[in-house]
Amino acid sequence: MAKVACVDLFCGAGGLTHGFVLEGIPVKAGIDMDPSCKFPYETNNRNAKFVERDISEVSEKDLEQLFGNADVKILAGCAPCQPFSTYAQRYESDGKEGKWGLLYHFARLAEKTKPDVITMENVPTVAKHEVFDDFVASLKKAGYKVWHGVVDSSGYGVPQMRRRMVLLASKHGEIKMVPPTHSQPITVRQAIKSLSPIRAGEFSAKDKLHACSSLSEKNMKRIRVSKPGGTWRDWPQHLVADCHRSESGRTYPGVYGRMEWDKPAPTMTTQCYGFGNGRFGHPEQDRAISLREAAILQSFPSDYDFVPKDGEISFKVLGRLIGNAVPVGLGRAIARSIKTHLASIPAR
Ligand SMILES: C[S@@+](CC[C@H](N)C(=O)[O-])C[C@H]1O[C@@H](n2cnc3c(N)ncnc32)[C@H](O)[C@@H]1O
Repeated sequence: MAKVACVDLFCGAGGLTHGFVLEGIPVKAGIDMDPSCKFPYETNNRNAKFVERDISEVSEKDLEQLFGNADVKILAGCAPCQPFSTYAQRYESDGKEGKWGLLYHFARLAEKTKPDVITMENVPTVAKHEVFDDFVASLKKAGYKVWHGVVDSSGYGVPQMRRRMVLLASKHGEIKMVPPTHSQPITVRQAIKSLSPIRAGEFSAKDKLHACSSLSEKNMKRIRVSKPGGTWRDWPQHLVADCHRSESGRTYPGVYGRMEWDKPAPTMTTQCYGFGNGRFGHPEQDRAISLREAAILQSFPSDYDFVPKDGEISFKVLGRLIGNAVPVGLGRAIARSIKTHLASIPAR
């Protein structure tokens, strides 16, 4: 049996890694510069080591060491998508410096270590940028067959609308994403209805991650009149925020909404624990979704550990780890695509 090993660049709390682990692909290590990833990454992925490092400082030799004596090397990664966000497109120049450069570092490590298979996940708009064209061109030049496409995570059993660009590349021939497995998306009801009720600002005694942010008096009045799938336009005038009364506010009907029980959730973001930050209100309880609910909507198992027993629950830190993750279900589909490809190439 060929010895397979994966290294996950920009590994975060381990959404992508966990998908690989659940599909039986051994992940040797995850690299990320955020120290708060270490606990969830290593606790839930016991054989994977967390390496706290800036990717721009990782050398070919470092990566070779992490791969060890594997016969089949898989390099996975999900460079931070902030530079590709609509905000960044409008306000930042399309340079090769700073965060824009991280994909070039991914390409540098791929070119130098020549892994058998490479996979990258990002927001769909990444494909509009020179950095993405350069990434694909460098892989093709190095002899890889490259597939990329935009997929909706809800088609792979993730209870959330989340469109993402997935790239797969192999030294051993054509590779592509497996077809979607769910023609009917999993709904918010199926995903989180069984969790115990909690009140705004409280947490469950059984699971401290099932904690939700508090609401101001005004926001409590607002959520009480919010309908699932509705917007602030349903509210009485005196509750509407000044910015929503202005012309510019009218372009953001998606803020301050409740989710709908019988639909998949909206895209989880790093701010998904706040009622005012998107359609992140619970469908019937008067509160924003809890961190645990957000993690489940990202298809993390319901017992995925994010903080040590005596650790602090920081909405900002945990919102970032959860909202930034590759949904585990999408990670599994990527892993299955790689397994299908590896099984199709003649044994070496
Ligand atoms: C989109 S998230 C990755 C999510 C992860 N793949 C998962 O599934 O949970 C991007 C990650 O890149 C990390 N990051 C940003 N700049 C970095 C750098 N220069 N070196 C290493 N990690 C970096 C962030 O800390 C963040 O965890």
